Amino acid sequence: MYKFFLRPILFNFDPEKVHYFTFRMIRFLTAIGFGGLFRSMYKTEDPRLEREVFGLKFPNPVGLAAGFDKDAKLFRELSNFGFGFIEIGTLTPKAQEGKPRKRLFRLKQDQAIINRMGFNNGGVDEAVVRLKKNRNVLVGGNIGKNKITPNEEAESDYLSCFEALFDYVDYFVVNVSSPNTPNLRALQDKEPLSKLLKLLREKNSEKNNPKPILLKIAPDLSDDQLMDIIDIVAETGIDGVIATNTTISRDGLQTTSNLVEQIGAGGLSGKPLKNRSTEVIRFLSEKSGQAFPIIGVGGIHSAEDALEKLEAGATLVQLYTGFIYEGPALIKKINKAILSV
Ligand SMILES: Cc1cc2nc3c(=O)[nH]c(=O)nc-3n(C[C@H](O)[C@H](O)[C@H](O)COP(=O)(O)O)c2cc1C
Repeated sequence: MYKFFLRPILFNFDPEKVHYFTFRMIRFLTAIGFGGLFRSMYKTEDPRLEREVFGLKFPNPVGLAAGFDKDAKLFRELSNFGFGFIEIGTLTPKAQEGKPRKRLFRLKQDQAIINRMGFNNGGVDEAVVRLKKNRNVLVGGNIGKNKITPNEEAESDYLSCFEALFDYVDYFVVNVSSPNTPNLRALQDKEPLSKLLKLLREKNSEKNNPKPILLKIAPDLSDDQLMDIIDIVAETGIDGVIATNTTISRDGLQTTSNLVEQIGAGGLSGKPLKNRSTEVIRFLSEKSGQAFPIIGVGGIHSAEDALEKLEAGATLVQLYTGFIYEGPALIKKINKAILSV
């Protein structure tokens, strides 16, 4: 229904406008009673899908990746589509506009997206107001820094998001891997990253009920940098890694180089990212001796793609671009396939 009826219509319009339109439609349809229908169409409830990871019980291993519901406006409604967990954010301490439009592009031939949203969000405090209302799904809080905050002061941005969200999310994701905030990815270097994660761990351990803290990494890291990540996870004692964010690479695209050039800077997601992200998952899993849980994300557009990530060493998976191209039926397909292996 989505892929053959809705998608061809939606894909005629500007991607960012379609994003907000879809939000409004999902909210409206849920408000007038379609939530139950969505649940019966898309949800797979089976105890064999449950996963206990970093102390949390996930009803199934398929989650929505960060960036879709940045401001925690739709996670309740989205849970009807069968996601086992939903990651909100990236949130920053202060609201910010993000980059000028146009900043979101479909590469249909490649079943991909390029985005340079630049952490557009309404700020962490606004999201907290919405998160205070009852939650019906596991929620991860993905946190970042404001564009105007220099890297030397980034710690205070991550800390204030951590404190503001602490009582309202189930796990945290430290995002230092978006390509759309100038210099952000420099925070992936060993020294600043260890310092930042240690600080968050310290604050976390002061709480009565510490929350899992994960690190989200870029697919563009070298093997040496990935080895550093393994060391950092061990040294700082964080709970796991999300691999991966979008890539700055444009290798192997079907879309004409002219068009790709015209689109310009941004992070590429979707099918062309699939193999690299799986490679990163496999590398981390093998070289660390499966020392920590990995959430696998990048280019999952079919049940087979998800199984491949799990086989490579991921414990849970997430999707974003596959959800746009394949629709909500993909979540059920993945869960069914997991049940059949
Ligand atoms: C439009 C868009 C916005 C995104 N925003 C964020 C974000 O704010 N924070 C983040 O950690 N990842 C963000 N991502 C990255 C996704 O969470 C995911 O890691 C990446 O897209 C790879 O998965 P996919 O191929 O299934 O889309 C964004 C992706 C897209 C397409």
